[in-house]
Amino acid sequence: MSALARDPEYGAVDIEITRMRRRHLRRVLTIEAKVYPRPWSTSLFLSELSQRTTRTYIVAKNEGEVVGYSGMMFTGREAHVTNIAVDPDFHGRKVGTRLLLYLVTEAIARGAEILSLEVRVTNSVAQNMYEKFGFAAVSVRKGYYIETNEDALVMVVDDARSTQYRLRLQKIREEVDQWR
Ligand SMILES: CC(C)(COP(=O)(O)OP(=O)(O)OC[C@H]1O[C@@H](n2cnc3c(N)ncnc32)[C@H](O)[C@@H]1OP(=O)(O)O)[C@@H](O)C(=O)NCCC(=O)NCCS
Repeated sequence: MSALARDPEYGAVDIEITRMRRRHLRRVLTIEAKVYPRPWSTSLFLSELSQRTTRTYIVAKNEGEVVGYSGMMFTGREAHVTNIAVDPDFHGRKVGTRLLLYLVTEAIARGAEILSLEVRVTNSVAQNMYEKFGFAAVSVRKGYYIETNEDALVMVVDDARSTQYRLRLQKIREEVDQWR
């Protein structure tokens, strides 16, 4: 658990996870602009949402308001995390963990064996979360983030269908449930 999450001021929050819909985009774009130097546009989200068979996008709501979201792209036996973000007011309260747990669980149910993503080399908070989920760095994409000319770390889980991985997810699920 992060120092922030241990702070009693930072109480657990009620979170409901649902499919992302067009009506969520106003809040999604607000969060997007808060957390990324080059936020996704409305049209990019709409394009992603329209690809129903190969994409899953979800939102985390607290008291009816979107406080986080994430998406995944499915290609054959691989599932790729395309985006994950949480409103800074809700950081450190397991919202990101719940979003990723939901998507990874769905990916495995859909038959994915490999999970992958890119993350900024400097984004140690996100990397910590991914490492908890068993992602390991396998390569670097030079200058992947063109706005800052920053490199991306490619992180992968290559045994998503193994018993060992199922147990890892079970442990994360129990931690999240205890924290509620
Ligand atoms: C990355 C992000 C989604 C995590 O969401 P979150 O709801 O704050 O994360 P959680 O509370 O579920 O924490 C998950 C794990 O992240 C890591 N983490 C969270 N906050 C941290 C902090 N302040 N310092 C170090 N690690 C931290 C820990 O490993 C934590 O697990 P733990 O609580 O068991 O220690 C969030 O920080 C965010 O929106 N960042 C901006 C967007 C972004 O960088 N997205 C990723 C792009 S690749």
